[in-house]
Amino acid sequence: MSEDSLRAWYRDSIEEHPEELHQTDPPEFLTQEEVFVKTGVTYWREEKYNDEERLKELKEEGGYKSSDFLEIRGEVGTENMERMSYKEHLHEDSEIRMVTAGSIFFEVRSCDGRWIRLHLREGDLINLPPGIYHRGALDKGDYCKLYRLFLDISEWKAFYPPEADTLPVRIQYQKEMGFLAS
Ligand SMILES: [Fe+2]
Repeated sequence: MSEDSLRAWYRDSIEEHPEELHQTDPPEFLTQEEVFVKTGVTYWREEKYNDEERLKELKEEGGYKSSDFLEIRGEVGTENMERMSYKEHLHEDSEIRMVTAGSIFFEVRSCDGRWIRLHLREGDLINLPPGIYHRGALDKGDYCKLYRLFLDISEWKAFYPPEADTLPVRIQYQKEMGFLAS
């Protein structure tokens, strides 16, 4: 773990042009701790993000079965962007991503229903808990390479609202976060 340098803010409500910052006026920034309390998302900086040995270590330490790299590039609004799931979704496993080149926006739904935007750059690593609604978009740099860690890639699937609202993993997440009475 190193310094708290997560760049996070509440997103405005304009859906077009996800490559823009989408800050409110005035901006409502959040600290790493506030993001954790509102979403359960953990974050840290990894200095050796391009060191193969360190990547192997991260995988072993966490007990992850699979890992890969995902490269996303191309003009915003093109086919590439669509492959990137700007569509809100959730998974039954944690989504763990580290930026190894470029930068990207991740958006996570907070306990109050608002989108929190995380602007991730090289060396930023996030862990999204199972059951959290999220989506991602490239910024104006139009390029990002992500290192992905999976507990079980064979089960890796996206579920979309409103159908996903009633999945056990969604209910469990909401209970753990205190959105629902347990
Ligand atoms: Fe996802």
